[in-house]
Amino acid sequence: MTAEIIDGKAFAATIRDKVAGHVARLKEEHGITPGLAVVLVGEDPASQVYVRNKGKMTREVGMESVEHRLPEDTSEADLLSLVEHLNADPAIHGILVQLPLPDHIDSDKVINAIAPAKDVDGFHISNVGLLGTGQKSMVPCTPLGCLMMLRDQLGSLSGLDAVVIGRSNIVGKPMAHLLLGDSCTVTIAHSRTKNLAEVVKRADIVVAAVGRPQMVPGDWIKPGATVIDVGINRVPGEGEKMRLVGDVDFASASERAGAITPVPGGVGPMTIACLLANTVTACCRANG
Ligand code: GUN
Repeated sequence: MTAEIIDGKAFAATIRDKVAGHVARLKEEHGITPGLAVVLVGEDPASQVYVRNKGKMTREVGMESVEHRLPEDTSEADLLSLVEHLNADPAIHGILVQLPLPDHIDSDKVINAIAPAKDVDGFHISNVGLLGTGQKSMVPCTPLGCLMMLRDQLGSLSGLDAVVIGRSNIVGKPMAHLLLGDSCTVTIAHSRTKNLAEVVKRADIVVAAVGRPQMVPGDWIKPGATVIDVGINRVPGEGEKMRLVGDVDFASASERAGAITPVPGGVGPMTIACLLANTVTACCRANG
């Protein structure tokens, strides 16, 4: 079997088009422009790239983008006071503090200082609790993008066996809650899981989010399964070049899966599209 390739880039473009239409209507009919503030502390190169892309895409859909770039030695108190300021700013509907933060700053404290209604990452403890109890919440962008691709591919997910590899707060845990919300039978696997191969072999849906290059070989994949690869790992390529690979060995997995996301061009573009969608949702909720 040769898997269908799930085109996250094209799917994300359709979401951004819808968001742009929504933003245009909010402007025309209500005179409101959704605003997203992104806060970056320090010089982490990967974070700088993400933040630049987020700003560009935010402007492209017609929203206001505000970027706060703070030095590495910014104090926790100063960061908290910026968050307070953004919480109180009516032109800002979404706040994203780029992670990881420098070690001297308590990330949980900062995330939990964001007004839950403006927490477009869905990381605030209130949003985590709402998602965990199946209530309306801000949903973390990467798992939301994965869920949208799965629903698009499979229609109903009810009763399917799903395995999420990775238990991070950003992807693994919220992903498991979303799949449970869609009535999957969910297993969360992680670095201590015994017989990971056997666990993965049972799954109709595999979401890999561990950050280990190509750790899932194709012969673990149940024939016809849908594979969502969240990993973005840099490995040596030809000559001096680096190349990006996922957590799944794409070449062998695509011979067994029914459908699979590529890396790059799968989950990655969906994350920013969902961030923009969450910002519009936050803006609409703030304005009744
Ligand atoms: N760092 C890596 N992924 C994310 C994300 O989704 N949100 C934030 N705030 N930081 C990140």
